[in-house]
Amino acid sequence: MNEAAVARARRDTPGCSEVIHLNNAGASLPPAVVVDTVVDYLEEEARVGGYELAEARGEDLAGVYRSVAGVIGAGEDEIALVDNATRAWDMAFYSFPFRNGDRILTTTTEYGANFIAYLQVAKRTGARVEVIPDTATGEVDVDALEEMIDDRVRLISMNHMPTNGGLINPAAAVGRIAKDAGVPFLLDACQTVGQMPIDVDEVGCDLLSATSRKFLRGPRGVGFLYVRDRFIESLEPAMLDLHGASWVARDRYEVRRDAKRFETWESSPALRLGLGAACDYALDIGLDAIWRRVSGLAARLRTDLDRVDGVTVHDKGAVKGGIVTFSVAGVPAAVLKQELGKRRINVSTTSVYSARIDMEQRGLDETIRASVHYFNTDDELAEFISALAYVVA
Ligand SMILES: Cc1ncc(COP(=O)(O)O)c(C=O)c1O
Repeated sequence: MNEAAVARARRDTPGCSEVIHLNNAGASLPPAVVVDTVVDYLEEEARVGGYELAEARGEDLAGVYRSVAGVIGAGEDEIALVDNATRAWDMAFYSFPFRNGDRILTTTTEYGANFIAYLQVAKRTGARVEVIPDTATGEVDVDALEEMIDDRVRLISMNHMPTNGGLINPAAAVGRIAKDAGVPFLLDACQTVGQMPIDVDEVGCDLLSATSRKFLRGPRGVGFLYVRDRFIESLEPAMLDLHGASWVARDRYEVRRDAKRFETWESSPALRLGLGAACDYALDIGLDAIWRRVSGLAARLRTDLDRVDGVTVHDKGAVKGGIVTFSVAGVPAAVLKQELGKRRINVSTTSVYSARIDMEQRGLDETIRASVHYFNTDDELAEFISALAYVVA
């Protein structure tokens, strides 16, 4: 992105004049078009009626699926719109009929909520959760994964980028192994959708979960699940309602054939339209350009942080994206976050609860997470570094 494109993005984003926002991995600042889309819809809903407006705006709402699909190279029938990334992931994961002795392979950096689901299913069914070792640079070791494959492996499930660090996992290499082995591959792309180009066919994942509010810059409270078309009918959601299925006879129901079987009937059309607007906005800028800008800013931030006395940068990965994690000797993460917040600089913290295996392996209880987006500027990063140096001194 050139300077003019960044300046335009900042003009489009009301929050840019309020805060230095380095919490894009938490929830990014939405562009005005997203906010207006949501607010305008809610106002109209209040005037004309919720069901009536949803019917009248049916085509626009159908267009959201096209927009979401466009961001990951999917087909619109392969998309389910749900409340958030965890729910999207859950709807996929809990639809697998795991049995005693089945193996689920995942990564050291797996997101806490996903791991809790593994443990719950393991407790209920006797399936085993196994962690694929890392390479020296921290990402999932694809050679080790290949060696772990046997006929008891029922699922490979991992994140594309963890919640607690900059590394990008080699999803396409994992996808090839999964495909060769005929094992389903569920990718948690919550932190990568919107910050880098993703094509589900190139990645080779069968299922992918993501959210609206992070690097896509959409509203909170909405997310999505991608399910490869040939897979959809083999997966029956653990929960169904009158949208996912029809009650066709007293003793029979029929599950719908597209990915909408994973949705619920009730949803927020306003938020969905906001998500669609966010996808269109990202596609308009271009995900290649976004990725170059985000990864470049994050690399610069890591270099600058390295120069601050007492700061240790924790990111691993041969390829790194927009999440930058660090700690400051002797200063708790929460205190630093609060001090920066007083200066209108937003960062977040991550703890052992979000990615226990990785954090324990590295002896970390918590880190500070500064996550950049393309609308951040070098000046903002410089201001952040000097505020940090001041707080630390
Ligand atoms: C890697 C990863 N997966 C899943 C999630 C969960 O997303 P959500 O809060 O939308 O359920 C997060 C949230 O931080 C995440 O970082």
